[in-house]
Amino acid sequence: MKDLLGLRGLDAHEIENILTTAVEMKKILVNNVKKTNHLSNKSVATLFYENSTRTRTSFEIAAKFMGAVLSSIPVAQSSVRKGETLIDTGKTLDALATDVIVIRHEVSGAPHFLAKNVKASVINGGDGMNEHPTQALLDMFTVAEEKGSLKGLKVAIIGDVKHSRVARSNLWGMSKLGAEITLCAPGTLMPKDIGLAVKNLKIEKNADEAVRGADVVMGLRLQLERMTSGLIPSVGEYNEFYGLSEKRLKGADKDVMVLHPGPINRGVEIDGDVADAKNSFIERQVTNGVAVRMAVLFLLTRS
Ligand code: NCD
Repeated sequence: MKDLLGLRGLDAHEIENILTTAVEMKKILVNNVKKTNHLSNKSVATLFYENSTRTRTSFEIAAKFMGAVLSSIPVAQSSVRKGETLIDTGKTLDALATDVIVIRHEVSGAPHFLAKNVKASVINGGDGMNEHPTQALLDMFTVAEEKGSLKGLKVAIIGDVKHSRVARSNLWGMSKLGAEITLCAPGTLMPKDIGLAVKNLKIEKNADEAVRGADVVMGLRLQLERMTSGLIPSVGEYNEFYGLSEKRLKGADKDVMVLHPGPINRGVEIDGDVADAKNSFIERQVTNGVAVRMAVLFLLTRS
């Protein structure tokens, strides 16, 4: 595999291979070694056209732990702002002997376009409303770490599904590993054609129904930056009908795991006490993100 662009195009075996490799990488992290030679002769560049805290930092930490030369390209101060095209930026990185480019872009498909035009491996760190494969991989890793496997688990993904690349990547990935997914959003935030090709998918407008008996509940941020017009009446009303509250989660399985890709908006899609509760895995997701990104960097650069 040269690139990691999405989970839609991977099969269960390829996804499992990444997750198994991540188990080994996590051992390196928890042993506090934080130094391997897996990427000692490789260079990694992060090219983020959209805001990020977790994804970018964890890719950079993963690359550094594995001994890579890292360049973090400040898009706002780079030649991108002088009108350089994505292909020319990619060719520049090729000329600088970059082995892996991690790109986040507001346009769906931008990483795919870049991958076709550069020699370097390309990892999609989130493209528009399309996919965010490493986020879904770390979500799957976190669930599998706790529950053993995803097979037969009921997973409710609740929130702004329409604008969420995290929901799409999880839909493809988790369903391939045998989870039963329920997507839940108000009508204006649920695309009509989502997941037509996915088995065992439920679409639910009522969040209490979606949560009922769920083993995993994942909240999604309202992507206000991608909304062109008001798609919800008010944030308060949204919280009442779709927010993850203690009361709503009472309907879930007693061992329910609460996930959220972050950044969280407390009191909007998730209440503060739910985010901080014992069964919230939000911080574990962040830690696991490093292990998963180490695994992906390793697998793509192994020649
Ligand atoms: C997500 C993203 O950027 O797609 N965040 C992340 O990578 N952890 C979700 C979001 O921004 O709401």
